[in-house]
Amino acid sequence: MKKWYDNAVIYQIYPKSFQDSNQDGVGDLQGIIKRLPYLKKLGVNTLWLNPIYVSPQVDNGYDVANYYAIDPQMGSMADFEALLKEAHKFDMHLLMDFVLNHTSDQHPWFQDAIKSKDSIYRDYYIFAGENGKRPNNWASFFGGSVWEKDPLNTGEYYFHLFDKHMPDLNWKNPEVRHAMLDIARFWLDKGVDGLRIDAFIHVAKADLYQNFPGNIDPVVAEPFYANRPQVLEWMNEFSHTLKAEYPDVYLLGEASSADVTLANDYLDPNGAALDSVITFRYFTEDLSKLNPNFSDQYQPRDLDFEAFKQNQVVWQQTVDKPNLYLNNHDLPRIATRFAKNDNQAKMYALLMHLQKGTSVIYYGEELGLRNINIPEYEGDESVDRFVKEATEAGLTKDEAMDMVNQMHRLASRGPMLWDDSPYGGFSNVEPWIKGINEQNVSAQDQEDDPNSFLNFYRKLISLKQTELFAKGAYRMLNIPGKTYVYERHLDDQSAIVALNFDHHSIEIDTDKTDVLMVVGDYELHDGKLLLEPDSGIVLK
Ligand code: GLC
Repeated sequence: MKKWYDNAVIYQIYPKSFQDSNQDGVGDLQGIIKRLPYLKKLGVNTLWLNPIYVSPQVDNGYDVANYYAIDPQMGSMADFEALLKEAHKFDMHLLMDFVLNHTSDQHPWFQDAIKSKDSIYRDYYIFAGENGKRPNNWASFFGGSVWEKDPLNTGEYYFHLFDKHMPDLNWKNPEVRHAMLDIARFWLDKGVDGLRIDAFIHVAKADLYQNFPGNIDPVVAEPFYANRPQVLEWMNEFSHTLKAEYPDVYLLGEASSADVTLANDYLDPNGAALDSVITFRYFTEDLSKLNPNFSDQYQPRDLDFEAFKQNQVVWQQTVDKPNLYLNNHDLPRIATRFAKNDNQAKMYALLMHLQKGTSVIYYGEELGLRNINIPEYEGDESVDRFVKEATEAGLTKDEAMDMVNQMHRLASRGPMLWDDSPYGGFSNVEPWIKGINEQNVSAQDQEDDPNSFLNFYRKLISLKQTELFAKGAYRMLNIPGKTYVYERHLDDQSAIVALNFDHHSIEIDTDKTDVLMVVGDYELHDGKLLLEPDSGIVLK
Protein backbone atom coordinates (compact mmCIF):
# COMPACT_ATOMS: atom_id res chain seq x y z
CA MET A 1 0.00 0.00 0.00
CA LYS A 2 1.27 3.48 -0.83
CA LYS A 3 2.22 5.56 2.21
CA TRP A 4 3.14 9.19 2.65
CA TYR A 5 6.55 8.17 3.99
CA ASP A 6 7.51 6.21 0.87
CA ASN A 7 9.03 9.46 -0.37
CA ALA A 8 10.03 10.98 2.93
CA VAL A 9 13.22 13.03 3.05
CA ILE A 10 13.71 13.68 6.72
CA TYR A 11 15.42 16.71 8.25
CA GLN A 12 16.62 16.26 11.81
CA ILE A 13 16.32 19.37 13.95
CA TYR A 14 18.16 19.65 17.23
CA PRO A 15 15.71 22.19 18.63
CA LYS A 16 18.06 23.71 21.20
CA SER A 17 20.50 24.70 18.46
CA PHE A 18 18.33 25.58 15.47
CA GLN A 19 16.81 29.03 16.01
CA ASP A 20 16.29 31.04 19.18
CA SER A 21 13.26 33.33 18.90
CA ASN A 22 13.09 34.79 22.42
CA GLN A 23 16.78 35.55 22.88
CA ASP A 24 17.58 33.30 25.82
CA GLY A 25 20.32 31.43 23.95
CA VAL A 26 18.23 28.26 23.57
CA GLY A 27 16.53 27.37 20.30
CA ASP A 28 12.76 27.02 20.43
CA LEU A 29 9.60 26.05 18.58
CA GLN A 30 8.78 29.57 17.37
CA GLY A 31 12.28 29.63 15.93
CA ILE A 32 11.54 26.48 13.94
CA ILE A 33 8.28 28.01 12.67
CA LYS A 34 10.24 30.99 11.40
CA ARG A 35 12.52 28.71 9.39
CA LEU A 36 9.87 26.55 7.73
CA PRO A 37 10.12 28.46 4.43
CA TYR A 38 13.87 27.73 4.39
CA LEU A 39 13.17 24.03 4.91
CA LYS A 40 10.51 24.01 2.25
CA LYS A 41 12.91 25.54 -0.22
CA LEU A 42 15.56 23.00 0.75
CA GLY A 43 13.08 20.36 -0.39
CA VAL A 44 12.73 18.18 2.69
CA ASN A 45 9.23 16.98 3.52
CA THR A 46 9.52 15.52 7.01
CA LEU A 47 10.94 16.96 10.22
CA TRP A 48 12.23 14.97 13.18
CA LEU A 49 12.64 16.97 16.36
CA ASN A 50 14.96 15.78 19.11
CA PRO A 51 13.09 15.72 22.46
CA ILE A 52 11.16 18.84 23.42
CA TYR A 53 9.37 17.53 26.52
CA VAL A 54 9.79 18.95 30.01
CA SER A 55 13.23 17.86 31.12
CA PRO A 56 15.97 18.76 33.60
CA GLN A 57 18.27 18.50 30.52
CA VAL A 58 20.77 16.13 32.10
CA ASP A 59 20.92 14.48 28.66
CA ASN A 60 19.55 17.39 26.61
CA GLY A 61 15.94 16.28 26.75
CA TYR A 62 16.36 12.49 26.64
CA ASP A 63 15.65 12.62 30.38
CA VAL A 64 11.92 13.32 30.31
CA ALA A 65 10.14 14.57 33.43
CA ASN A 66 6.76 15.16 31.78
CA TYR A 67 5.81 13.59 28.46
CA TYR A 68 2.65 15.65 28.16
CA ALA A 69 4.14 19.14 28.11
CA ILE A 70 6.75 21.16 26.23
CA ASP A 71 9.91 22.21 28.01
CA PRO A 72 9.41 25.91 28.82
CA GLN A 73 12.84 26.72 27.35
CA MET A 74 11.50 25.60 23.98
CA GLY A 75 8.02 27.04 24.17
CA SER A 76 4.50 26.05 25.10
CA MET A 77 1.91 23.57 23.91
CA ALA A 78 0.33 26.41 21.91
CA ASP A 79 3.68 26.92 20.15
CA PHE A 80 3.84 23.22 19.43
CA GLU A 81 0.34 23.17 17.96
CA ALA A 82 1.21 26.19 15.85
CA LEU A 83 4.36 24.49 14.59
CA LEU A 84 2.49 21.34 13.67
CA LYS A 85 -0.19 23.31 11.87
CA GLU A 86 2.31 25.43 9.97
CA ALA A 87 4.44 22.42 9.03
CA HIS A 88 1.37 20.67 7.67
CA LYS A 89 0.46 23.80 5.70
CA PHE A 90 3.87 23.49 4.06
CA ASP A 91 3.07 19.82 3.30
CA MET A 92 5.65 18.67 5.76
CA HIS A 93 5.24 15.84 8.23
CA LEU A 94 6.46 15.94 11.80
CA LEU A 95 8.10 13.18 13.85
CA MET A 96 8.50 13.38 17.62
CA ASP A 97 11.38 11.78 19.45
CA PHE A 98 9.89 9.15 21.71
CA VAL A 99 11.86 8.11 24.77
CA LEU A 100 10.46 4.85 26.08
CA ASN A 101 13.37 3.05 27.70
CA HIS A 102 13.83 5.43 30.63
CA THR A 103 12.53 8.61 32.23
CA SER A 104 14.17 11.37 34.21
CA ASP A 105 14.58 10.73 37.93
CA GLN A 106 12.44 13.86 38.29
CA HIS A 107 9.48 12.16 36.61
CA PRO A 108 6.55 11.85 39.06
CA TRP A 109 6.53 8.05 38.60
CA PHE A 110 10.10 7.79 39.84
CA GLN A 111 9.60 10.37 42.54
CA ASP A 112 6.72 8.30 43.84
CA ALA A 113 8.61 5.02 43.42
CA ILE A 114 11.36 6.22 45.77
CA LYS A 115 8.91 7.37 48.45
CA SER A 116 7.94 3.89 49.59
CA LYS A 117 8.47 0.29 48.64
CA ASP A 118 4.69 0.07 48.43
CA SER A 119 4.41 2.81 45.82
CA ILE A 120 2.25 1.69 42.93
CA TYR A 121 5.02 3.07 40.70
CA ARG A 122 7.77 1.02 42.31
CA ASP A 123 7.35 -1.66 39.66
CA TYR A 124 7.54 0.90 36.86
CA TYR A 125 11.29 0.82 37.39
CA ILE A 126 13.88 -1.88 37.95
CA PHE A 127 14.86 -2.21 41.59
CA ALA A 128 17.10 -5.11 42.63
CA GLY A 129 19.89 -6.17 44.96
CA GLU A 130 19.78 -6.29 48.73
CA ASN A 131 21.76 -5.28 51.78
CA GLY A 132 23.72 -2.77 49.78
CA LYS A 133 24.97 -5.38 47.34
CA ARG A 134 24.56 -4.76 43.61
CA PRO A 135 22.87 -7.58 41.72
CA ASN A 136 25.55 -7.69 39.00
CA ASN A 137 28.67 -6.15 37.45
CA TRP A 138 27.08 -4.54 34.38
CA ALA A 139 28.30 -1.11 33.26
CA SER A 140 26.23 1.86 32.15
CA PHE A 141 26.82 3.34 28.68
CA PHE A 142 27.56 6.65 30.38
CA GLY A 143 30.27 5.17 32.67
CA GLY A 144 30.18 3.44 36.05
CA SER A 145 27.68 0.79 37.13
CA VAL A 146 24.12 0.50 35.83
CA TRP A 147 23.09 0.35 39.50
CA GLU A 148 22.49 3.35 41.70
CA LYS A 149 21.51 3.20 45.36
CA ASP A 150 17.81 3.47 46.04
CA PRO A 151 17.46 6.94 47.59
CA LEU A 152 14.97 5.37 50.01
CA ASN A 153 17.88 3.49 51.63
CA THR A 154 16.31 0.08 51.31
CA GLY A 155 19.63 -1.55 50.47
CA GLU A 156 18.30 -1.97 46.92
CA TYR A 157 19.49 -0.35 43.71
CA TYR A 158 17.76 1.00 40.63
CA PHE A 159 18.88 0.28 37.08
CA HIS A 160 20.04 3.00 34.67
CA LEU A 161 21.62 2.13 31.35
CA PHE A 162 22.41 5.80 30.65
CA ASP A 163 22.95 8.57 33.22
CA LYS A 164 22.10 7.84 36.85
CA HIS A 165 19.43 10.52 36.58
CA MET A 166 17.71 8.42 33.89
CA PRO A 167 16.26 5.30 35.53
CA ASP A 168 15.19 2.55 33.09
CA LEU A 169 11.53 1.66 32.90
CA ASN A 170 10.47 -1.89 33.65
CA TRP A 171 8.95 -3.06 30.36
CA LYS A 172 8.04 -6.39 31.91
CA ASN A 173 5.28 -4.48 33.65
CA PRO A 174 2.25 -4.27 31.32
CA GLU A 175 1.24 -0.98 32.96
CA VAL A 176 4.47 0.59 31.69
CA ARG A 177 3.76 -0.65 28.19
CA HIS A 178 0.23 0.74 28.36
CA ALA A 179 1.42 4.05 29.75
CA MET A 180 3.85 4.42 26.86
CA LEU A 181 1.08 3.71 24.35
CA ASP A 182 -1.05 6.38 26.01
CA ILE A 183 1.73 8.92 25.65
CA ALA A 184 2.11 8.03 21.97
CA ARG A 185 -1.66 8.39 21.49
CA PHE A 186 -1.61 11.83 23.08
CA TRP A 187 0.82 13.12 20.44
CA LEU A 188 -0.68 11.22 17.53
CA ASP A 189 -4.11 12.57 18.46
CA LYS A 190 -2.63 16.04 18.13
CA GLY A 191 -1.74 15.19 14.55
CA VAL A 192 1.91 14.20 14.82
CA ASP A 193 2.81 11.95 11.87
CA GLY A 194 5.27 9.56 13.43
CA LEU A 195 7.76 8.74 16.14
CA ARG A 196 11.50 8.35 16.21
CA ILE A 197 11.77 5.69 18.87
CA ASP A 198 14.76 6.22 21.08
CA ALA A 199 16.93 3.34 22.31
CA PHE A 200 14.12 0.78 21.98
CA ILE A 201 16.59 -2.09 21.60
CA HIS A 202 17.35 -1.81 25.31
CA VAL A 203 13.90 -2.30 26.80
CA ALA A 204 14.52 -5.99 27.64
CA LYS A 205 17.18 -7.10 30.09
CA ALA A 206 18.67 -10.52 30.90
CA ASP A 207 18.40 -12.19 34.30
CA LEU A 208 19.64 -9.48 36.64
CA TYR A 209 21.45 -11.91 38.93
CA GLN A 210 24.01 -12.92 36.36
CA ASN A 211 27.44 -11.29 36.04
CA PHE A 212 28.90 -10.67 32.63
CA PRO A 213 32.31 -12.27 32.07
CA GLY A 214 35.15 -9.75 32.15
CA ASN A 215 38.17 -8.63 34.13
CA ILE A 216 36.93 -5.15 34.80
CA ASP A 217 34.09 -4.21 37.08
CA PRO A 218 31.72 -2.82 36.01
CA VAL A 219 31.88 -4.19 32.48
CA VAL A 220 29.82 -3.19 29.45
CA ALA A 221 27.44 -6.15 29.04
CA GLU A 222 25.60 -5.37 25.80
CA PRO A 223 24.31 -8.92 25.20
CA PHE A 224 22.51 -8.61 28.51
CA TYR A 225 20.71 -5.35 27.74
CA ALA A 226 20.62 -4.86 23.97
CA ASN A 227 18.61 -6.66 21.26
CA ARG A 228 17.16 -9.27 23.65
CA PRO A 229 14.42 -11.48 22.15
CA GLN A 230 11.69 -9.83 24.23
CA VAL A 231 12.35 -6.53 22.44
CA LEU A 232 10.58 -8.04 19.45
CA GLU A 233 7.60 -9.18 21.48
CA TRP A 234 7.05 -5.85 23.24
CA MET A 235 7.75 -3.68 20.22
CA ASN A 236 5.46 -5.84 18.11
CA GLU A 237 2.64 -5.14 20.53
CA PHE A 238 3.54 -1.43 20.62
CA SER A 239 3.78 -0.99 16.84
CA HIS A 240 0.71 -3.04 15.94
CA THR A 241 -1.44 -1.31 18.54
CA LEU A 242 -0.47 2.11 17.18
CA LYS A 243 -0.79 1.09 13.55
CA ALA A 244 -4.26 -0.31 14.13
CA GLU A 245 -5.37 3.02 15.56
CA TYR A 246 -3.25 5.31 13.36
CA PRO A 247 -2.75 3.51 10.04
CA ASP A 248 -0.51 6.27 8.65
CA VAL A 249 1.88 6.52 11.58
CA TYR A 250 5.56 6.25 10.68
CA LEU A 251 7.75 4.45 13.20
CA LEU A 252 11.47 5.08 12.89
CA GLY A 253 13.45 3.11 15.44
CA GLU A 254 16.93 3.86 16.70
CA ALA A 255 18.71 0.50 16.74
CA SER A 256 22.29 1.57 17.30
CA SER A 257 23.88 -1.89 17.29
CA ALA A 258 21.68 -3.53 14.66
CA ASP A 259 23.30 -5.49 11.85
CA VAL A 260 21.24 -6.31 8.75
CA THR A 261 19.72 -9.43 10.29
CA LEU A 262 18.54 -7.62 13.37
CA ALA A 263 17.38 -4.68 11.27
CA ASN A 264 15.19 -7.03 9.26
CA ASP A 265 13.76 -8.49 12.47
CA TYR A 266 12.90 -4.99 13.62
CA LEU A 267 11.25 -4.21 10.27
CA ASP A 268 9.39 -7.51 10.00
CA PRO A 269 5.65 -7.17 10.72
CA ASN A 270 6.01 -10.34 12.78
CA GLY A 271 9.01 -8.82 14.54
CA ALA A 272 9.14 -5.27 15.89
CA ALA A 273 6.99 -4.06 12.96
CA LEU A 274 8.83 -0.75 12.57
CA ASP A 275 8.96 1.16 9.28
CA SER A 276 12.62 2.07 9.37
CA VAL A 277 15.64 1.55 11.61
CA ILE A 278 18.72 3.67 12.18
CA THR A 279 21.85 1.63 12.84
CA PHE A 280 25.19 3.02 14.00
CA ARG A 281 27.00 0.18 12.26
CA TYR A 282 27.41 1.89 8.89
CA PHE A 283 30.75 3.55 9.36
CA THR A 284 33.40 0.87 9.78
CA GLU A 285 36.47 2.56 11.17
CA ASP A 286 40.18 1.91 10.73
CA LEU A 287 41.53 1.56 14.26
CA SER A 288 45.00 0.37 13.22
CA LYS A 289 46.67 3.79 13.46
CA LEU A 290 45.44 4.71 16.93
CA ASN A 291 47.85 5.38 19.76
CA PRO A 292 47.77 2.30 22.02
CA ASN A 293 49.04 4.25 25.05
CA PHE A 294 45.73 5.84 25.92
CA SER A 295 42.02 5.19 25.47
CA ASP A 296 40.80 5.18 21.89
CA GLN A 297 37.46 6.75 22.83
CA TYR A 298 38.13 10.19 21.35
CA GLN A 299 41.04 9.41 19.03
CA PRO A 300 40.08 10.47 15.50
CA ARG A 301 40.23 7.68 12.97
CA ASP A 302 39.73 7.20 9.24
CA LEU A 303 36.94 5.33 7.62
CA ASP A 304 37.97 1.80 6.66
CA PHE A 305 36.83 2.44 3.12
CA GLU A 306 36.90 -1.10 1.80
CA ALA A 307 34.96 -2.45 4.76
CA PHE A 308 32.54 0.47 4.52
CA LYS A 309 31.81 -0.34 0.88
CA GLN A 310 31.21 -3.99 1.68
CA ASN A 311 29.00 -3.00 4.57
CA GLN A 312 26.95 -0.56 2.49
CA VAL A 313 26.41 -3.02 -0.31
CA VAL A 314 25.17 -5.61 2.16
CA TRP A 315 22.67 -3.14 3.66
CA GLN A 316 21.56 -2.09 0.19
CA GLN A 317 21.05 -5.67 -0.93
CA THR A 318 19.52 -7.04 2.25
CA VAL A 319 17.29 -4.40 3.79
CA ASP A 320 14.30 -3.18 1.86
CA LYS A 321 14.53 0.53 2.66
CA PRO A 322 17.66 1.37 4.62
CA ASN A 323 17.88 4.59 6.54
CA LEU A 324 20.51 6.82 4.96
CA TYR A 325 22.41 9.34 7.04
CA LEU A 326 25.86 10.83 7.51
CA ASN A 327 25.46 12.67 10.80
CA ASN A 328 23.27 12.86 13.84
CA HIS A 329 23.33 14.35 17.32
CA ASP A 330 25.24 11.35 18.70
CA LEU A 331 28.08 11.43 16.18
CA PRO A 332 30.71 13.93 15.09
CA ARG A 333 29.75 15.73 11.90
CA ILE A 334 30.90 13.97 8.72
CA ALA A 335 32.71 17.11 7.49
CA THR A 336 34.97 16.80 10.54
CA ARG A 337 34.91 13.04 10.95
CA PHE A 338 35.79 11.60 7.55
CA ALA A 339 35.72 14.25 4.80
CA LYS A 340 39.18 15.68 4.14
CA ASN A 341 37.84 18.74 2.31
CA ASP A 342 34.61 20.33 1.03
CA ASN A 343 34.61 18.25 -2.14
CA GLN A 344 34.67 15.07 -0.11
CA ALA A 345 31.86 16.30 2.14
CA LYS A 346 29.72 16.73 -0.98
CA MET A 347 30.85 13.37 -2.32
CA TYR A 348 29.77 11.61 0.87
CA ALA A 349 26.37 13.24 0.41
CA LEU A 350 26.04 11.79 -3.12
CA LEU A 351 27.38 8.48 -1.90
CA MET A 352 24.88 8.12 0.91
CA HIS A 353 21.72 9.91 -0.05
CA LEU A 354 21.35 8.77 -3.66
CA GLN A 355 21.38 5.16 -2.54
CA LYS A 356 18.18 3.22 -2.04
CA GLY A 357 16.43 4.21 1.18
CA THR A 358 15.12 7.03 3.33
CA SER A 359 17.46 9.97 3.87
CA VAL A 360 17.85 11.80 7.14
CA ILE A 361 19.68 15.11 6.84
CA TYR A 362 21.06 16.55 10.07
CA TYR A 363 20.56 20.32 10.40
CA GLY A 364 23.54 22.23 9.01
CA GLU A 365 24.71 19.26 6.95
CA GLU A 366 23.33 21.15 3.97
CA LEU A 367 25.78 24.00 4.68
CA GLY A 368 28.76 21.67 5.07
CA LEU A 369 28.91 22.42 8.79
CA ARG A 370 31.72 20.92 10.82
CA ASN A 371 32.01 20.31 14.55
CA ILE A 372 32.35 23.26 16.88
CA ASN A 373 35.28 23.61 19.28
CA ILE A 374 34.15 23.40 22.85
CA PRO A 375 36.73 24.92 25.22
CA GLU A 376 35.71 22.95 28.33
CA TYR A 377 33.58 19.84 28.73
CA GLU A 378 32.46 20.73 32.20
CA GLY A 379 31.87 17.75 34.44
CA ASP A 380 32.16 15.20 31.63
CA GLU A 381 33.95 12.33 33.33
CA SER A 382 34.84 10.49 30.15
CA VAL A 383 36.49 13.61 28.70
CA ASP A 384 38.42 14.22 31.94
CA ARG A 385 39.61 10.62 31.97
CA PHE A 386 40.64 10.78 28.31
CA VAL A 387 42.56 14.05 28.72
CA LYS A 388 44.34 12.68 31.79
CA GLU A 389 45.39 9.50 29.97
CA ALA A 390 46.40 11.34 26.81
CA THR A 391 48.51 13.92 28.66
CA GLU A 392 50.19 11.17 30.68
CA ALA A 393 51.03 9.54 27.35
CA GLY A 394 52.78 12.74 26.23
CA LEU A 395 50.13 14.83 24.45
CA THR A 396 49.49 18.44 25.43
CA LYS A 397 46.10 19.27 26.87
CA ASP A 398 45.28 21.24 23.71
CA GLU A 399 46.09 18.26 21.53
CA ALA A 400 43.89 16.02 23.65
CA MET A 401 41.04 18.53 23.61
CA ASP A 402 41.40 18.87 19.87
CA MET A 403 40.79 15.12 19.60
CA VAL A 404 37.77 15.37 21.85
CA ASN A 405 36.33 18.14 19.69
CA GLN A 406 36.78 16.02 16.59
CA MET A 407 35.08 13.04 18.13
CA HIS A 408 32.62 14.09 20.85
CA ARG A 409 28.93 14.04 20.05
CA LEU A 410 28.38 17.40 21.78
CA ALA A 411 30.62 19.08 19.21
CA SER A 412 28.10 18.20 16.50
CA ARG A 413 25.32 20.13 18.24
CA GLY A 414 26.52 23.66 17.51
CA PRO A 415 24.13 26.48 16.62
CA MET A 416 22.83 26.63 13.07
CA LEU A 417 24.59 29.35 11.07
CA TRP A 418 21.95 31.50 9.41
CA ASP A 419 23.80 34.75 8.70
CA ASP A 420 26.96 36.71 9.49
CA SER A 421 25.79 38.35 12.71
CA PRO A 422 27.77 37.62 15.92
CA TYR A 423 25.93 34.44 16.89
CA GLY A 424 25.28 33.40 13.31
CA GLY A 425 21.67 34.60 13.42
CA PHE A 426 20.89 31.77 15.80
CA SER A 427 20.40 34.18 18.69
CA ASN A 428 21.34 37.69 19.80
CA VAL A 429 22.82 36.32 23.00
CA GLU A 430 25.44 33.70 23.76
CA PRO A 431 24.15 30.24 22.81
CA TRP A 432 23.56 27.58 25.47
CA ILE A 433 26.39 25.46 24.10
CA LYS A 434 29.80 27.00 24.69
CA GLY A 435 31.52 26.27 21.44
CA ILE A 436 33.06 28.15 18.59
CA ASN A 437 32.45 27.43 14.96
CA GLU A 438 35.53 28.49 13.04
CA GLN A 439 33.84 28.24 9.67
CA ASN A 440 32.94 31.37 7.83
CA VAL A 441 29.73 30.11 6.29
CA SER A 442 26.02 30.80 6.61
CA ALA A 443 22.75 29.93 4.93
CA GLN A 444 22.43 33.56 3.81
CA ASP A 445 25.84 33.58 2.09
CA GLN A 446 25.14 30.29 0.40
CA GLU A 447 21.67 31.25 -0.79
CA ASP A 448 22.64 32.67 -4.18
CA ASP A 449 25.98 30.97 -4.75
CA PRO A 450 25.42 28.27 -7.38
CA ASN A 451 28.41 26.30 -6.06
CA SER A 452 27.40 26.39 -2.43
CA PHE A 453 26.62 23.38 -0.27
CA LEU A 454 23.10 24.66 0.14
CA ASN A 455 22.36 24.71 -3.56
CA PHE A 456 24.12 21.39 -3.96
CA TYR A 457 21.84 19.86 -1.32
CA ARG A 458 18.74 21.42 -2.88
CA LYS A 459 19.62 19.73 -6.15
CA LEU A 460 20.45 16.46 -4.42
CA ILE A 461 17.16 16.38 -2.51
CA SER A 462 15.11 17.07 -5.61
CA LEU A 463 16.99 14.35 -7.51
CA LYS A 464 16.40 11.97 -4.61
CA GLN A 465 12.67 12.43 -5.07
CA THR A 466 12.61 11.50 -8.74
CA GLU A 467 11.20 8.04 -9.51
CA LEU A 468 14.54 6.55 -10.44
CA PHE A 469 16.26 7.51 -7.20
CA ALA A 470 13.20 7.01 -5.02
CA LYS A 471 12.32 3.55 -6.28
CA GLY A 472 15.10 2.23 -8.48
CA ALA A 473 17.13 -0.87 -7.72
CA TYR A 474 20.73 -0.53 -6.59
CA ARG A 475 23.86 -2.20 -7.88
CA MET A 476 27.39 -1.40 -6.80
CA LEU A 477 30.10 -1.50 -9.45
CA ASN A 478 33.39 -2.90 -8.30
CA ILE A 479 35.94 -0.26 -9.29
CA PRO A 480 39.21 -0.94 -7.42
CA GLY A 481 40.70 1.62 -5.05
CA LYS A 482 39.15 4.26 -2.89
CA THR A 483 36.19 4.68 -5.18
CA TYR A 484 32.48 4.34 -4.73
CA VAL A 485 30.48 3.72 -7.88
CA TYR A 486 26.92 2.49 -8.14
CA GLU A 487 23.99 2.30 -10.49
CA ARG A 488 20.33 2.87 -9.90
CA HIS A 489 17.89 1.43 -12.39
CA LEU A 490 14.15 1.39 -12.88
CA ASP A 491 12.45 -0.04 -15.98
CA ASP A 492 14.32 1.50 -18.92
CA GLN A 493 15.94 4.28 -16.89
CA SER A 494 19.30 4.11 -15.16
CA ALA A 495 21.94 6.37 -13.66
CA ILE A 496 25.39 6.01 -12.18
CA VAL A 497 26.89 7.77 -9.20
CA ALA A 498 30.68 7.69 -9.46
CA LEU A 499 32.95 8.99 -6.71
CA ASN A 500 36.73 9.06 -6.58
CA PHE A 501 38.22 9.49 -3.11
CA ASP A 502 41.59 8.19 -4.29
CA HIS A 503 44.84 10.09 -4.96
CA HIS A 504 44.91 9.29 -8.67
CA SER A 505 42.35 9.68 -11.42
CA ILE A 506 40.13 6.76 -12.41
CA GLU A 507 38.53 5.75 -15.67
CA ILE A 508 35.14 4.12 -16.05
CA ASP A 509 33.37 2.91 -19.17
CA THR A 510 29.88 4.28 -19.44
CA ASP A 511 27.20 4.86 -22.04
CA LYS A 512 25.67 7.71 -20.03
CA THR A 513 25.99 11.27 -21.26
CA ASP A 514 23.56 13.37 -19.28
CA VAL A 515 25.34 15.08 -16.33
CA LEU A 516 23.00 15.52 -13.37
CA MET A 517 25.40 16.60 -10.63
CA VAL A 518 29.15 17.22 -10.38
CA VAL A 519 31.79 17.73 -7.73
CA GLY A 520 35.36 18.52 -8.82
CA ASP A 521 36.76 17.67 -12.25
CA TYR A 522 35.93 15.10 -14.89
CA GLU A 523 36.14 14.42 -18.59
CA LEU A 524 33.52 12.50 -20.52
CA HIS A 525 33.93 11.41 -24.13
CA ASP A 526 33.68 8.35 -26.33
CA GLY A 527 32.07 6.23 -23.64
CA LYS A 528 34.81 6.96 -21.13
CA LEU A 529 34.52 8.87 -17.89
CA LEU A 530 37.74 10.21 -16.39
CA LEU A 531 37.32 11.26 -12.80
CA GLU A 532 40.00 13.27 -11.01
CA PRO A 533 40.83 12.77 -7.30
CA ASP A 534 38.22 14.20 -4.92
CA SER A 535 35.68 14.34 -7.71
CA GLY A 536 32.29 12.83 -8.25
CA ILE A 537 29.51 12.80 -10.80
CA VAL A 538 25.95 11.63 -11.32
CA LEU A 539 25.26 10.57 -14.90
CA LYS A 540 22.13 9.43 -16.60
C1 GLC B 1 19.75 7.69 22.24
C2 GLC B 1 19.89 9.14 21.90
C3 GLC B 1 21.01 9.72 22.72
C4 GLC B 1 20.65 9.56 24.18
C5 GLC B 1 20.32 8.12 24.52
C6 GLC B 1 19.62 8.02 25.83
O1 GLC B 1 20.85 6.95 21.91
O2 GLC B 1 20.08 9.30 20.54
O3 GLC B 1 21.27 11.05 22.41
O4 GLC B 1 21.71 9.99 24.99
O5 GLC B 1 19.45 7.54 23.59
O6 GLC B 1 18.31 8.49 25.71
